[in-house]
Amino acid sequence: MANHRPVRCAVIGVHNIASQHIPVLHALPEAEVVALCDVDPAPLAAASRTYGVAQVFSSVDDLLAWGEFDAAYVLVSVLAVAEVAERCMRAGFAAFIEKPPGLYTADTERLARAVRETGAIAAVGLNRRFYSSTLAGRAALLDTGDVLSVTVHADEDAGSQWHNPKFPPEVAARWIYANSIHALDLLRFFGGEVANVTPLRRRRALPNPDSFSALLEFESGAVGRAVADHFAPRGAGHRYEARTATAVLRSESGFDRVILERRGQAPVAFELTGLDRRLKPGFPGESQAFLRAVRRGEPAAFPSVTLDDAVGTMRMLDAITGAEAWAPQQRRLV
Ligand SMILES: NC(=O)c1ccc[n+]([C@@H]2O[C@H](COP(=O)([O-])OP(=O)(O)OC[C@H]3O[C@@H](n4cnc5c(N)ncnc54)[C@H](O)[C@@H]3O)[C@@H](O)[C@H]2O)c1
Repeated sequence: MANHRPVRCAVIGVHNIASQHIPVLHALPEAEVVALCDVDPAPLAAASRTYGVAQVFSSVDDLLAWGEFDAAYVLVSVLAVAEVAERCMRAGFAAFIEKPPGLYTADTERLARAVRETGAIAAVGLNRRFYSSTLAGRAALLDTGDVLSVTVHADEDAGSQWHNPKFPPEVAARWIYANSIHALDLLRFFGGEVANVTPLRRRRALPNPDSFSALLEFESGAVGRAVADHFAPRGAGHRYEARTATAVLRSESGFDRVILERRGQAPVAFELTGLDRRLKPGFPGESQAFLRAVRRGEPAAFPSVTLDDAVGTMRMLDAITGAEAWAPQQRRLV
């Protein structure tokens, strides 16, 4: 597309997370929200009023038939994401796809195939990569040498999701894919491609395994450790630590602040900066990168999460959880 005008964005699914994405799109001069779409009339009417977007559609069919946009923001309920995203890409539109792109790896692989077959520009919303604190901290860490080890905790009170009426049991059962993916993806963000995973799984309190520990080897030779205890209260939650030979970077406060410690030097703190301070952290950066890719007509570049990249993270999750073997699969698309 010509790169002098804003990217015309259609937002599909205008409820919870859309209320964080749309203000970001409004804040970015390179984006224009031209249409909203939701199968539920109540959030559709509310979002139309709140954001002053008159063009609304109650079905993806009608939106695609209209077609006066460049990129779809696919922010629909977890189980609908893969199907809606694939339809948008196969209809010729770029797609920003909230995580998880597919609840099952096979669904995400299918989206990656759609990208290859259509040339669609696409990015997945694993926004923890784009926290300004983490991006600056990672750059400073890499100045000290290669990453040699990464430890990520994705501890959560997943049991509460089994009682949350918002989520079907299938989503609660695969909560590690639906949500913990945010933190566990940072293993690959810091460590690169995973060569080998040695998992240890236990079932403590939930119907499926709910305690995951794994040792990872990266292709670089670095090692990783993944911990996701999903039983009991949440504890310290999502966090990471990455080391070079002379430095360690660790997150605090849910990634809002990261600390770099180097031998013989005072620790340095990296805080949220820019739009991350007033909007949902990571959302401005991930959208800016996606919109840049759309304007240039080029695939989104690291740290953006392409569909192939997302497949890599989901295969890593499969190796950690063994979940393909135990989760209910009644809604698999392929
Ligand atoms: N990046 C993050 O931090 C983050 C946080 C929360 C949610 N999410 C992700 O965002 C997505 C949406 O989550 P949410 O909490 O906003 O869900 P939600 O249920 O609050 O809203 C989803 C909306 O999509 C609509 N919808 C469902 N199927 C549709 C379809 N086929 N066509 C059009 N509209 C449809 C629903 O009516 C609903 O209004 C999920 O994939 C979720 O995992 C990401």
